[in-house]
Amino acid sequence: MRPLQKIAISALICTLAIFPAGTGLTQVYDFEKMSRNIITLLTIAGFSVADNLDVINMHNAKLGMPLPENQPYSHKGIDPIQFAKTITRDFTIRTGIAVRFVSEGKGEYGPRNPADQPDTWEQAQINRFKELGLSPDIGFGEFLKVGEKPKRVIYRYFYPLYINERCLKCHGDPANSPTGDGKDITDYYMENYKIGELRGGISLTFPVK
Ligand code: HEC
Repeated sequence: MRPLQKIAISALICTLAIFPAGTGLTQVYDFEKMSRNIITLLTIAGFSVADNLDVINMHNAKLGMPLPENQPYSHKGIDPIQFAKTITRDFTIRTGIAVRFVSEGKGEYGPRNPADQPDTWEQAQINRFKELGLSPDIGFGEFLKVGEKPKRVIYRYFYPLYINERCLKCHGDPANSPTGDGKDITDYYMENYKIGELRGGISLTFPVK
């Protein structure tokens, strides 16, 4: 057998060993890495909305240009998490990967959107990150067996979201309320979060074949 043929046959054997017939690709996915990549994309999307709030909401403003003076300002209904949710709604329909943005809220305030109330698993992760006080950029994922007869396997991943400078405009000190009534431009009460505080997290759920 010529060396090239040998290489080709070994490559085929390796491929068959990695992708045995009928198992599908799911088993070779690196779920943690995939989760991290999805989270990265979502945080970039959310942060870019937060960074461009004035361009979005100010009349006659243009991306990359200095803000025009004396122009009316009106909230267009776009905020970072709401924008990320518009992306993930379609993403979930197309991929089957569920994405949630959750928070237990702070002080007298619960989550802004009642649908963002953490479930038991998500709350356990929030507690875990609160206790560990881990620095940002570390998530937690695990495979779980759920349901009854037949039980199915899912992979869940939680990534904590901490407050940074760009979040304060809405989630920060109510004394800085633009309307002077403790509310932000989206008409929610500002929760008085401080930089570095755990705001909640992004929660992913993958069906596993
Ligand atoms: C323009 C104001 C604004 C900014 C800036 C902002 N948020 Fe929010 N945030 C909101 C609103 C409004 C909601 C409720 C969204 C909805 O109805 O789904 C929300 C919801 C959330 C939620 C979901 C939990 C809940 O309370 O419903 C998280 C988590 C969150 N924000 C984190 C952040 C982080 C982290 C930042 C900074 C990177 C940030 N937000 C910046 C307005 C803002």
